[in-house]
Amino acid sequence: MRIHVPECESTQTLLDASMPEWSVATTDHQTDGRGRLGRRWVDAPGTSLLVSVLLKPPVERNPAELTLVAGLAVAETVERELGREAQIKWPNDVLVDGAKVSGGLADLRDGVVVLGIGLNVNQSELPETRLPAASLRTIDGRVRKLEPLLEHLLTTLRAHYGTWREHGLAALHGEFAARDALRGRRVAVGDATGIALGIRDDGRLILDSGVVESGEVTF
Ligand code: BTN
Repeated sequence: MRIHVPECESTQTLLDASMPEWSVATTDHQTDGRGRLGRRWVDAPGTSLLVSVLLKPPVERNPAELTLVAGLAVAETVERELGREAQIKWPNDVLVDGAKVSGGLADLRDGVVVLGIGLNVNQSELPETRLPAASLRTIDGRVRKLEPLLEHLLTTLRAHYGTWREHGLAALHGEFAARDALRGRRVAVGDATGIALGIRDDGRLILDSGVVESGEVTF
């Protein structure tokens, strides 16, 4: 099922458990876009990908890992567009040269997951945020059609989701490791600080001082 509306509060609210898996909701503009940790996701109308996907993962999988799976699909989509490397900042951001181009959000409700992705595409400028933000356009100057990007992103997401569903995050480990924005850097996550060593096969962040399950990373 595909739903597209010109405007909504948040695409996260357009999907529910009664719909088939892989139902997709998109919009041109969100009036109350949601980010992780209760933050807002702000967009200029018609300039970015704002998409939510309904997923029904098996009980043995940890749905919190899905922001990483989404991040990998976004990173590959961005790399294909820009012809340069993208990084995944655990647990949900995609960066190019240290600037955030995309964020992901996994909402768990009624036993299903609504996976939301925002990807900055055609903005000519971005609001000031804690982490510097960028769009594909601010990086290479090109204005892009959104539909082909969305289709590529969904195809890539479907492939990585299938791998994750069957084999878990371990099967994607090499792909994350190659794009890990944190490895080797001193970071803080809540009360924990340390040098980031990598992402564990259960999606947790490994620091030289211990393992972190979730949180916001600062440098
Ligand atoms: C973050 O970086 O904090 C996550 C941002 C997630 C934004 C996307 S845009 C589509 C979907 N709808 C929302 O309201 N949020 C997600």
